Amino acid sequence: MSNTVSIYNFKGGVGKTTTALNLGISWSRSFKVLLIDFDPQCNLTNAITIEEPRNTIYNNIRNLLHDHDPDIEPLEITPYLHIIPGDFQMTQIESNNQFISFGTGIIARLLSSQRREYDFIIMDCPTNFGVLVKAILGSSKNILIPAQADSFSITGIQTLMGYLNMVENSLLNILGVFFNMYNGNLILSQEKFNEAKNSFGNLILDTTVSRSIKVGEALDIGQAISDYSPDNTAAVEFMKLSDELLAKFLGNVSSHVVLENLNLQE
Ligand SMILES: Nc1ncnc2c1ncn2[C@@H]1O[C@H](COP(=O)(O)OP(=O)(O)OP(=O)(O)O)[C@@H](O)[C@H]1O
Ligand SMILES: [Mg+2]
Repeated sequence: MSNTVSIYNFKGGVGKTTTALNLGISWSRSFKVLLIDFDPQCNLTNAITIEEPRNTIYNNIRNLLHDHDPDIEPLEITPYLHIIPGDFQMTQIESNNQFISFGTGIIARLLSSQRREYDFIIMDCPTNFGVLVKAILGSSKNILIPAQADSFSITGIQTLMGYLNMVENSLLNILGVFFNMYNGNLILSQEKFNEAKNSFGNLILDTTVSRSIKVGEALDIGQAISDYSPDNTAAVEFMKLSDELLAKFLGNVSSHVVLENLNLQE
């Protein structure tokens, strides 16, 4: 049974897609992982797939809206990493009356149809806080929040927590906020990190990920930075982030050992 993890921040360009890709590839070394690209921009899909995908998230949601049996066939990237590809038509979902009324139930049905197949389902969310995001967060077990340590980070996190209170999901577990594109040499960044720790405590993850041009280069060709440039600081930090999160799911177990026999709890 899988753990569902939404990667979300209402701020754009903070690294949601980059995080989905890097965690997905990292966890797929030891677990079976499904990525779902909910963002109409399809950045994750474009990074990771070669041919034009057919069985997209939009087709699947439309079938579910018409009450067809879910015949969801994720695309295989590797035997342990699959994706339900994104679709620009997902913009239409926001104004679909049926989805507006039953969206959370629809996404919950989609996820439950896949739960038995995967250890982790990682969802790359769009940037707005609309009907779709509310439905995704409403049916997710966990949320991970990439953020940037800038002058807006504290108010941004506060606003986000306010948003999460509006999501109808009392079971939503906040895995944490992590600072991406972090520059530990900048006093402003250090100050913002410390301020955030003082205000939000354990909600702020210990791992930060540095800014590196290699992260973007790796994303462009659908690779994790840890494969593209293993010695890069951001690569090491993404592995640390992967381990910090896995430890939250599993108790202190490193992702580098084979964990197939462990029984993952929801
Ligand atoms: N640690 C990093 N170092 C350098 N560049 C990064 C890092 N993380 C992300 N980026 C770059 O920042 C840009 C935004 O990242 P990404 O697309 O993952 O953000 P996003 O939150 O998904 O954006 P959107 O809101 O458009 O969906 C990309 O060009 C990506 O390559
Ligand atoms: Mg994105």
